Amino acid sequence: MFNGDLIIRGAHLADGSGRDACLADILIADDRILDIGLGKNWSAKEVLLAHGLTACPGFIDVHSHDDRELIDDPAMIPKISQGVTTVIVGNCGLSLAPLTRESLPSPLQDLVGPRKFPDFAAFLDAIDRAEPATNVAALVGHTALRVEVMRDLSQRASAEEIGAMRQLCSDALAAGAIGVSSGLYYPPAQAADWREVAELVALVGPESGVYAAHIRDEADDVIAAIHEAIQIAQAGGTQLVISHHKVMGQSNFGRSEETLALIEAAADRGPIGFDAYPYTAGASMLHAGLVQVAQKVILASSAPHPEFAGQELTDIAASLGCTPLEAVTRLSPGTAIYFIMDEADVQRILAHPLAMIGSDGIPGEHPHPRLWGTFPRVLGHYGRELGLFPFEEAVRRMTHLPAKTFGLQDRGALRAGAMADLVLLDRDSVIDRATFETPKQQSEGIIHVLVNGRFAWRDGVATGQHAGRVLRRHQN
Ligand code: ZN
Ligand code: CU
Repeated sequence: MFNGDLIIRGAHLADGSGRDACLADILIADDRILDIGLGKNWSAKEVLLAHGLTACPGFIDVHSHDDRELIDDPAMIPKISQGVTTVIVGNCGLSLAPLTRESLPSPLQDLVGPRKFPDFAAFLDAIDRAEPATNVAALVGHTALRVEVMRDLSQRASAEEIGAMRQLCSDALAAGAIGVSSGLYYPPAQAADWREVAELVALVGPESGVYAAHIRDEADDVIAAIHEAIQIAQAGGTQLVISHHKVMGQSNFGRSEETLALIEAAADRGPIGFDAYPYTAGASMLHAGLVQVAQKVILASSAPHPEFAGQELTDIAASLGCTPLEAVTRLSPGTAIYFIMDEADVQRILAHPLAMIGSDGIPGEHPHPRLWGTFPRVLGHYGRELGLFPFEEAVRRMTHLPAKTFGLQDRGALRAGAMADLVLLDRDSVIDRATFETPKQQSEGIIHVLVNGRFAWRDGVATGQHAGRVLRRHQN
């Protein structure tokens, strides 16, 4: 009786709810799922036989730095090849709008620049025009607002400056930003107190929308930093997402027990969640503080010395005839991979039911393997091989939980009426292949990916169809 464009027949459905996968057919019409069931009398232009595969809602990468990539390389192969159909950008306080300053400080320049847009509407329009393969939802960054408004970044914002930031922040939210991010760890935002950020987060308010926090300290002062993020979010009654949750530095190994207990206690008082990536190494701007706590550092990118990308910092320092800390200065601006976490903490954090998955991938010459491998690694390595969680539960944290947290309507679920973002994978073989040595490697086991009802990835190959959309707040 129903008539559609595509029938997917014979797959097991992990629908995003966390319930056990079960056999069902899916009928897609245009960009939505029209019906789900077995033995139904449907007709469609095309039938895809998917026996032996598992169908999941498309994965949502809640923490990405794909802001510029969406425009410069809209095929988004590192993400589509993992089954990611939606990316959240504008994280860590770093958005490409609103920015009109001639020169941008690190890490705005290194992590997302050098593109920039005078206002948020222009940024989102540029993504629309680029026609990326994935959907995107964007946060406006506190650091970007600060850099745009303030003359002296080493100071707290004055009442007048806060007023100007609030105006720009309101404009961004009206243009479709889905919330505010901050990166109080980073130099251009360090001088801000909690009130300065709370004034912006209050504009997001309690209904749909998030405050995503790269907290002030993920090492010795991690507890105080989490308290500060909670205080900022609660002042506005806003959903808090603690970004790339970790504890770093050898002296803090094991302290995820404390941080998770604190987060659980806060969950009784207001909406709180976090994301994490499945590696013991992080990546960020070149930063002396991080070099000092890391056990090993690999250069990911360097504007003055791109030829060293992929090499260990100690080897580069030897080649340059200087100390590693001097090398940081000579290689900046740039990004690096830092081995700073303990495997037991990574597992404890990933296994927590509030954990969403965010790659934190930073495109570049020699990226951290998380850019290409995060989602298959969670499913294959941490789920199937180590048994950290059932497959369906991992899928829930990549789909339904983030869609609900970030207010992405009709995404993150397989049900009649939902948007047709889907991944069909082989749950017995799905695994990451990207490594620290060869990071630009496609994962295995991701067979087909549909974005808004169109194949972006078919039989393990990109189709060239770019059907992604900008998901604007209140309009998506
Ligand atoms: Zn961050
Ligand atoms: Cu980040």
